[in-house]
Amino acid sequence: MRLQRGQVAYLCKRGYGYTLLSAGLKPFWHLMNTEKHTPLMQQYHDIRREHPDTLLFFQVGDFYELFFEDAKKASAFLGIALTARGKSGGEPIPLCGVPIHAKEHYLHKLIKGGFRVAICDQQEEPTPGKLVRRAVTQVLTPGTLTDSKLLDEKSASYLFSFYPGEREWTLLFGELLTAQLWATTVPANSERIVESELARFFPDELLIPNIKAAKPFIPFFKKQGYFTTLVDGDIRSDGNATAQEWLQRFPENTQQLIQKHESMRLALYYFYAYIKRTQQTSLDQFNQLFVYKPEDFLVMDAATQRNLELIRNNQNGGYTNTLFAVMDGATTPMGSRMIKKWLQRPLIKKEAIVQRQDAIAAFVCEMPFLQTMQQLLASMGDMERMVGRIALSRAQHHDYTALKKCLEVIPEIRVQLQQYSATALFNVISSHMADFSALSDLLHRALHDEPGGNKLIKAGFDQQLDYMRNLIENSNRSIVELERKEQGETTISSLKIRYNNVHGYYIEITNPNKHLVPERYKRRQTLVGKERYTTPELLSLAHEIERAHAQIEAREKELFDQVKRTVAEQSTPLRKLAHALAHLDAIHGFAKVAYNNGYIRPTFTDTRDITIADGRHPIVEQNAQTGFIPNDTNLNDAQSLWIITGPNMGGKSTYLRQVALLCIMAQCGAFVPAKRAELALLDRVFTRIGAGDNLAAGKSTFLVEMEETASICAHATKKSLVILDEVGRGTSTFDGLAIAHAVIEYLYTHIGARCLFATHYHELTTLPAQYPGIVPFYAASKKTDSGIVFLYKIMQGVADGSFGIEVAKLANLPDEVISKAVEHLKTLTEHEQAYAHHAVPAVPADVSGVAESDCVRRSSQERSRKMDDRLLQENRRLKEKIAALQKQAAIITELQNLSLDELTPKQAFDLLWQWKDHQA
Ligand SMILES: Nc1ncnc2c1ncn2[C@@H]1O[C@H](COP(=O)(O)OP(=O)(O)OP(=O)(O)O)[C@@H](O)[C@H]1O
Ligand SMILES: [Mg+2]
Repeated sequence: MRLQRGQVAYLCKRGYGYTLLSAGLKPFWHLMNTEKHTPLMQQYHDIRREHPDTLLFFQVGDFYELFFEDAKKASAFLGIALTARGKSGGEPIPLCGVPIHAKEHYLHKLIKGGFRVAICDQQEEPTPGKLVRRAVTQVLTPGTLTDSKLLDEKSASYLFSFYPGEREWTLLFGELLTAQLWATTVPANSERIVESELARFFPDELLIPNIKAAKPFIPFFKKQGYFTTLVDGDIRSDGNATAQEWLQRFPENTQQLIQKHESMRLALYYFYAYIKRTQQTSLDQFNQLFVYKPEDFLVMDAATQRNLELIRNNQNGGYTNTLFAVMDGATTPMGSRMIKKWLQRPLIKKEAIVQRQDAIAAFVCEMPFLQTMQQLLASMGDMERMVGRIALSRAQHHDYTALKKCLEVIPEIRVQLQQYSATALFNVISSHMADFSALSDLLHRALHDEPGGNKLIKAGFDQQLDYMRNLIENSNRSIVELERKEQGETTISSLKIRYNNVHGYYIEITNPNKHLVPERYKRRQTLVGKERYTTPELLSLAHEIERAHAQIEAREKELFDQVKRTVAEQSTPLRKLAHALAHLDAIHGFAKVAYNNGYIRPTFTDTRDITIADGRHPIVEQNAQTGFIPNDTNLNDAQSLWIITGPNMGGKSTYLRQVALLCIMAQCGAFVPAKRAELALLDRVFTRIGAGDNLAAGKSTFLVEMEETASICAHATKKSLVILDEVGRGTSTFDGLAIAHAVIEYLYTHIGARCLFATHYHELTTLPAQYPGIVPFYAASKKTDSGIVFLYKIMQGVADGSFGIEVAKLANLPDEVISKAVEHLKTLTEHEQAYAHHAVPAVPADVSGVAESDCVRRSSQERSRKMDDRLLQENRRLKEKIAALQKQAAIITELQNLSLDELTPKQAFDLLWQWKDHQA
């Protein structure tokens, strides 16, 4: 496996990190002879032994240092210098380090790169001659991060625990910062459902129990690209007893459910065992388990979620050009995450959808309301994660000041929502906003607005603190007075009392005045051109100031801890508040997008009809430079399966996706890009789009295509929408056509799902003659003297060709290739016409009974297609060659323009990566 820069985050989330980890972090320290080490290295080895499979960040002063293999791995991965310190067994000890103030930057890279990191901090102030106490304070793994700088603010970070029982499997998803646990139990051997649910939640880390029955699943998950961790846990030991205790925190009915499902109990047990080791404090936070069934939401298998690019695009796994990017109008990160969750889990109950629609409508119809809410929400920040960190005792002063700002805004939000008390969802949201005025008041009085130094707590909050601060101010004044007094007594007007961290306070005198220094002055330091002194009076004053500082620090900490405890006591209602605000922001985000893009509110009928007037593709319309052409959709009993033909580039695939996306958006409760939409409530959406192989899983393009099609045939129902884009094109024409034909018949006669089928097999357009509900449509285009013009209108009827050569011209295929292609096409067409003279025009319904003359016609078509394929291959080969040459030329130009003197080694290394990636 080769990790590419820029793709690192995506690839590692998709699991390559595990390979890196297991390949890169073989325990080595037990091999070390630790006897001859310095006390520091001895301490390092003792701690190291406790944390195998991690990179140990070992604090030494202002740096985290990494030693031995850790240093080699980290320096290579991070592009930082590898040096050496001291010796071990006669060999220099490899060392690299990162400054503590920049740790987030490096930790982010390492965790996303698939490493686990143990942070070992100094536990006391260093004193000369004594070894500083150190301990591991955090173990960071992809699924247990809580620091906002290490997390993607738009993604919930899930930890997934999987337990494969004999008869049923449990899938458990836990989110540390919101303390939410979701669980579902599926029959054993439901790999497809596992894949779909994983695609929905997209967990950062997968926990696999270290038992025989679970091991075969490791390759299954790794092939899908997830980061996996094997978890040990002896279910007969004490650990199990404490886990049982932990389970008792869930409500009675949940406990009964857990008792009924052994696999659920064990999935929870392994989740508990892992968290206990890495983030123990968070265990207390989990006190609810949402047990759900996959079909409680609109079912979309993993391929459908991928094909429709709901959350991630298929180019680089980013958000650009995805439905999420279009729909994310939220103001806060928690609102964005809620929108993402909604898109991944569309609803199937009309009432719940209508509730969201009502709330969106309230915003869309009242612009001032929407704008006011946007301003109010803007001061919320990421309250959900703030509260999560507070509950986990990982919050810092800025989290509390941010919370203070949020709480100040809540009363105004409630007032705003009260104006819309007829809107059910706003009422629900309001009901989760408890009265936090007392807490808000406490934070307002206690927290210093600009923390720094001894400034955690505001003046006026605590008398004792104020008194000590006054003392400091007075002593500062005393220093100034002493300075003046010494200037007078020595007659040295340039005499200064100064302070530095090493020597504390001192009197500084320049060399020309040295002869005026009185005998009571004690020299501390000689510098170029000046001397530094102290006096007993200055020493005692300095001592007094230092003591006051220490007392202030202790008092501030004490007061701040009190505040923290008071806030933590309210973490449950605060979580509810944050959750309600995330909902509100998601609704507001949907409303903003609807307003800005001119979306309308869809209605849901009790029939299975899908009627859309002037529908638009939400993503393509944003990028369409010359305007997007809207299209209608009328999928009903009279025309339930559309066979859509048309030229390449004609807009078929866009149309297919558009219909699926609109239905999904509508079931999320969102408004849709159309003039009018009356929709059916779907139970599942399936898509089979494009050619995607899965070489890692040992599957060819065609096998993947067939597996996806098989899944559709097996799971689609009458209430499903099925989108099939060029099914069958991945094999020979005969086989492909035969399969496409059979699939259409099966979907129509056995399943009765609403279906859109785009194809270049024009033979399929004769199917409507046999089945009343199958109807031909085509993407309209016009052939003019200057080339083909795409009209992007989906019309009833059959297209008169695919115009492949015209599209090839658009792609700038070399003129020579085009003119040859035109010649070949002419010959082939003449051949075909000659054969067609004898041919039977209709496509037989039964492919096994193909007539002889029909075979002749087909073999002519087959030859024509083969020729097309060869032309296509030639086109592809030439294009690839040109692209490769262009890439090389660009690198050479860049190299020539480089100023090597100005490059740091890190920049040079980065460039090498970049060039290597370009060449890939
Ligand atoms: N309704 C539309 N309005 C404006 N532009 C459109 C529309 N539909 C498609 N397009 C543009 O045409 C491009 C090609 O469309 P699409 O991929 O859907 O064609 P296609 O018919 O599926 O082609 P092929 O048969 O080669 O797969 C799109 O990327 C988009 O830029
Ligand atoms: Mg297409």
